[in-house]
Amino acid sequence: MKITFASPAQPQTGVAVVGVMEGRKLTAGAKALDKSTGGALSRAIKASRFKGSKGHTLTVLAPAGVKLDRVLMVGLGKPEEIDARRMQALGGHIYAALATKGHGSAQVVVDAIDKCPLNAAEMAAEIAFGARLRSYRFDKYLTRESAHDKPSLKGLKFIVAGPARARASFADQDKVADGVFMTRDLVSEPANILYPETLAKQAQGLSKLGVKVSVLGEAQMKKLGMGALLGVGQGSERESRVVVMQWNGLPKTKGKTEQPIAFVGKGVTFDSGGISIKPSGGMEDMKWDMGGSGVVIGLLKALAGRKARVNAVGVVGLVENMPSGTAQRPGDIVTSMSGQTIEVLNTDAEGRLVLADALWYTKERFKPKFMVDLATLTGAIIICLGAEKAGLFSNNDKLAGELSAAGEAVGEDLWRLPLGDAYDKTLKSDSADMKNISGGRGAGSITAAQFLQRFVDKTPWAHLDIAGVTWAAKDKPTVPKGGTAFGVRLLDRLVADNYEKK
Ligand code: BES
Ligand code: MN
Ligand code: ZN
Repeated sequence: MKITFASPAQPQTGVAVVGVMEGRKLTAGAKALDKSTGGALSRAIKASRFKGSKGHTLTVLAPAGVKLDRVLMVGLGKPEEIDARRMQALGGHIYAALATKGHGSAQVVVDAIDKCPLNAAEMAAEIAFGARLRSYRFDKYLTRESAHDKPSLKGLKFIVAGPARARASFADQDKVADGVFMTRDLVSEPANILYPETLAKQAQGLSKLGVKVSVLGEAQMKKLGMGALLGVGQGSERESRVVVMQWNGLPKTKGKTEQPIAFVGKGVTFDSGGISIKPSGGMEDMKWDMGGSGVVIGLLKALAGRKARVNAVGVVGLVENMPSGTAQRPGDIVTSMSGQTIEVLNTDAEGRLVLADALWYTKERFKPKFMVDLATLTGAIIICLGAEKAGLFSNNDKLAGELSAAGEAVGEDLWRLPLGDAYDKTLKSDSADMKNISGGRGAGSITAAQFLQRFVDKTPWAHLDIAGVTWAAKDKPTVPKGGTAFGVRLLDRLVADNYEKK
């Protein structure tokens, strides 16, 4: 999608998009167009149920008096309730309403509105961001799709006073969208194409943006003692990898690099369950069991793309969990990098084993200010929160609060769940320092988080269980169905609001 901004001038040809407020109140741009069409817009509104409510649209085709092919009226709702999230959703609605109508481009008229907390330039930038987010499509394997079925819309031109300001404020969001798109691409790729080695290659591509990327192979991981992670990958023909990405956006002070913040991702490129194999129905979903790592990679792309003034590290543990003659067996005992031993009672509880070593490694090597891990960790979180919110677990109230606020600001909601000794005790094993499942059926997401906590020591840490929100079954305004990239925008916002030097 090509997004441009230009100074006010009434659209003459093609497609025009204008806003209508709650109560059928036309914006300045809508009024002007209504006038040049001899009242076609207000007549169409009168003839319909369109009231200007948020999310509603009304189309007028080829109105007399002008050379326009189409006028799309979009509901803005109540002016005083307009905020960034709502304008992004509006952008998504505009894209969806026009994407397959045969037009290559459209002009969106954005006027200043009385009592609206955002100025016109801000509104235009947010609408543009939302439209771009909605325009994502994973269609690289659709080789026979007819032109008629493909989206036609390739460009949106925003007509707004102060286009330079709108352009500048959109520039950073455009980079965040680049990160979101990369994550969605990675999550959508099937596991025959995307496996630890090829996923690591994708991460290495970030070096073009100034991210330092290094890849640990199995020999190095063995030397480091990452027995928990390696055990998960040992049944696969594909070798495991750990990728370390460093974005140093801060200058050194007195020759010293400032302590980074760290993001850690579960990257199980396919989770068959291993010897504790999953039922076949729906197993294809487990191609996106690398969703956490996809978010970490996309986040680093966003931070580097917009040159964020922060030092951030991304670490992803990449493995394929397969059954085979070399696969890990239920009952095996592995030694993690931390030295703690783990009895693997269920080979399908593999994400926590991967993260155990990835978290410990991150903490030891970088001594970060905090670590946030993301993982499609448990089916139980879907039972608990559905596809609406991700689970948040933390040993630090400040970090948990910042994460919740960032999620709220971007529309990626978190819900905090408890940790505690009683849950931790369920991991006790007779044969090793711990077992990888708690045994009972209760509190599956919490006991999984409890397992992770054993590998973070005193480091401020938060765990986001994103199993329910990584893949969407239906379209939302700024998120087409499929891979969502839930977490990229949230964490970019966490950084921007709390950890960036101004
Ligand atoms: N990757 C799955 C969790 C998952 C399930 C993600 C559905 C997305 C959708 C994870 O590795 C897993 O298999 N967890 C088990 C843990 C159990 C064996 C303790 C689960 O949730 O059933
Ligand atoms: Mn599993
Ligand atoms: Zn898994």
